[in-house]
Amino acid sequence: MAILKIARMGHPVLRQRAQDVPDPTAPEVKRLVADMIDTMKDAGGTGLAAPQVHVPQRVVVYFVEAERAEREGEEEVAAVPLTVLINPEIEVLDDEVVSDWEGCLSIPGLQGYVPRARRIRYRGLDETGAPIEREATDFHARVVQHEYDHLQGILYSERMADMTRLGFTEELRRHPPDHD
Ligand code: NI
Repeated sequence: MAILKIARMGHPVLRQRAQDVPDPTAPEVKRLVADMIDTMKDAGGTGLAAPQVHVPQRVVVYFVEAERAEREGEEEVAAVPLTVLINPEIEVLDDEVVSDWEGCLSIPGLQGYVPRARRIRYRGLDETGAPIEREATDFHARVVQHEYDHLQGILYSERMADMTRLGFTEELRRHPPDHD
């Protein structure tokens, strides 16, 4: 296991569509997943996509802490355990869109206010090849859409509706912006 170097905005690997993983149970995928989990934890992220560690393949890892789920006022939404999702697909379940602040390990130090579908269903395979199918709401849905976007070569800044709401986390903390 190893901590990998994270690609930052401007690196072309973040702009390309990642390739399907032919065999999620292959030893090199297992190694990649272990390294991605180490890298995500080391960097203090809640999600990481393989292109962010310079591997253009359709693999993402993420989790949602109980604390975070509560803070978002999602009493009905449990924390999401560490999940490995390979070759994911997303289906938006209705038209409701909600905006919230996002950060990204590939855009260090900054945050932006990003509109996302509130409710999604997603499918994919875990690292043993077993299917995963879940419905997700709010922060959980946001994390999955953010990571999925990385596989499409899209960063959250490209999803923003109002670029005045992009700023350094440190400054935003010092000068809390109004919501909505
Ligand atoms: Ni990201």
